[in-house]
Amino acid sequence: MTQPVPASLLTIFGATGDLARRMLLPSLYSLQAERLLPDGMRILGTARSELDRETFVAEVEASICERIPAHERDAGALRGLLERLDYQAAGVDDDASMAALAARVQALRDGDVLYHLSTAPRFYGPACQALAAHGAAGPGTRVMLEKPIGKDLASAVAINDSVARAFDEDRIYRVDHYLGKEGVQNLIALRFGNALFEPLWNARHIEQVQITVGETVGVEGRGDYYDDSGAMRDMLQNHLLQLLCLVAMEPPARFEPTAVRNEKIKVLRSLRAIGAHEVAAESVAGQYGAGAIDGVAVPGYAQELGRESRTETFVALRAHIDNWRWSGVPFYLRTGKRLPSRSTEIYIQFRKVPYSIFGGRTAADMRPNGLVIKLQPEERIELDLMSKTPGLDRQGLRLSQVGLDLDFHEEFASARKRIAYERLYLDAIEGNGTLFVRRDETETAWAWVDAILDGWRSQGLAPRPYPAGTWGPAAAVSLIERHGHSWRE
Ligand code: BG6
Repeated sequence: MTQPVPASLLTIFGATGDLARRMLLPSLYSLQAERLLPDGMRILGTARSELDRETFVAEVEASICERIPAHERDAGALRGLLERLDYQAAGVDDDASMAALAARVQALRDGDVLYHLSTAPRFYGPACQALAAHGAAGPGTRVMLEKPIGKDLASAVAINDSVARAFDEDRIYRVDHYLGKEGVQNLIALRFGNALFEPLWNARHIEQVQITVGETVGVEGRGDYYDDSGAMRDMLQNHLLQLLCLVAMEPPARFEPTAVRNEKIKVLRSLRAIGAHEVAAESVAGQYGAGAIDGVAVPGYAQELGRESRTETFVALRAHIDNWRWSGVPFYLRTGKRLPSRSTEIYIQFRKVPYSIFGGRTAADMRPNGLVIKLQPEERIELDLMSKTPGLDRQGLRLSQVGLDLDFHEEFASARKRIAYERLYLDAIEGNGTLFVRRDETETAWAWVDAILDGWRSQGLAPRPYPAGTWGPAAAVSLIERHGHSWRE
C-alpha cells in the first residue's frame, strides 16, 4: 500500500444538495480559513443541474453565509475557497456526461483525487464504475461514501461489491459523521489517554452501560427516505453501534486505521444475536404521535408523513457483548425522534461498593458511581461520586451523591464548535482512514440489525405509540427495569 498524499482535487457529487449546503461547504470554508486545505487543491462540484461556474459559486457563497455568521466570516478566506471551485454537470446514468466529468477531473488534477459521493446510495456503484470506465478511478484516487450503505446486509454487500470493482478497500472512506465529532474523539482520548479508567473498564467493575441519542426533531421533510429506513437503520446500525464499539473495544496498538478498525470489528462480531425468540424481550420499537416539545405542539409521525406507517421512530434494546471483558454487562441502547431533549450521552454505571461500612441508614443513601460522557448538545464529563453530607449527625455519617463535572466549553473556551465534516474532510483529503468505517464493520452491523428487524417482522411486532416530547413508549422503561436498572434521565 502506497502512502497517500494530500488530494490535489476534491470532486463532490451532489454538490448542490442539502448536505453539501448545510455541512460540506461550510466545513471546507473553515478548513480554508484555518489554512488546512492543501495549496492549489481544486474543488469540483458536480450534480445533474446544468449550472455555469458563476451560478455554482454564488450558490456556494450563499450557503456559507447562511451557515457561518458574518462576525465569524473572513472575506479573504471565503474568496480563497470560492477561487478553488469549478462545476461540471453530470448524471450517473448519462455516460457522455460521466465521460466529460472524468475528462474534467483529469484536466484539473495535479496528483491525488478525492471523490465524495453525497448522493443516494443507489448511485455509488454506477458512479464508481463510470469513473473507472473513463479512467478516472485508478491509483491515486479515493472515494468517500455517505451513509446509509444499503438498507440491509444484502444491499450493503451489493453496494460494497460494486464500489470495490473500482476502488480497493483502502481507498474507500465510509462516513459515519459521529466519528468526526469532537466529543466522540474525546471518548477515545478519555479511555486511552488516562490510566484511571482502564483497570475498571470491564465486567468486574461495570454494572451496565447506556448509550442514548435523543433528538427533538421529527423527520424534517425527509419522510420518504426515513419511512423506508426508521430509527434502527438510520441511527442504530451506524451511529449507536460505532459509539458502542468505541466504548467497548480493546486498546488499539496505535491510533491508526487498521489498528482501530481491527478492534472495533471484534466488538461487532462479539455482539450476541437478538433473533426472533429474543426480540420481544430485548427490544422495543416506538412511533411518535402528536405531543409537545418545549411547550410547542407538534404533529405525530403519520400526520407528518401524510399516511399511516409501521416505521419506528424510536428504538431501545439490550445488547450483550460476549467476550471476556464484557460478559454479563448489559448495553442499553436507545434513540428516537421527537424526544424531550437533544442529547447524546454514554453512561457507565459502576458496581456498588461490595460492603457498606456505614450501616443501615446510610446504606439506603448509597448510589453506585457513574461516569457520564455527554457528547451533545454540550460536551461534558461527569463523574458521580458519594460524599459526606455536610453537618453533624449523632447516628454516623450521611452520604450524598455529588458530581465532578468537566465542561469542555468552559475548559477550552476559545475553541470553536466544529462541524464533524471539518475533521472528516481534513482526514480524507490527507488520506487518513482512522475515523472512517471499514467494509466489514458496516456489514457485520447490518447482519446484527437485520436479525432484529426480521424478528420484529416474523413476530408481528409493530412500533408502540409514544407522545412526542416523551422518552419513548412505556415498554422501553420496562425493558430495562426488568433487569433492575433504569434509564438515566
Ligand atoms: C443522521 C440521520 O445520520 O444523523 C438523521 O440520518 C439524524 O436522521 C442525524 O437526525 C443526527 O445527527 P446529529 O449530528 O444532529 O446528531
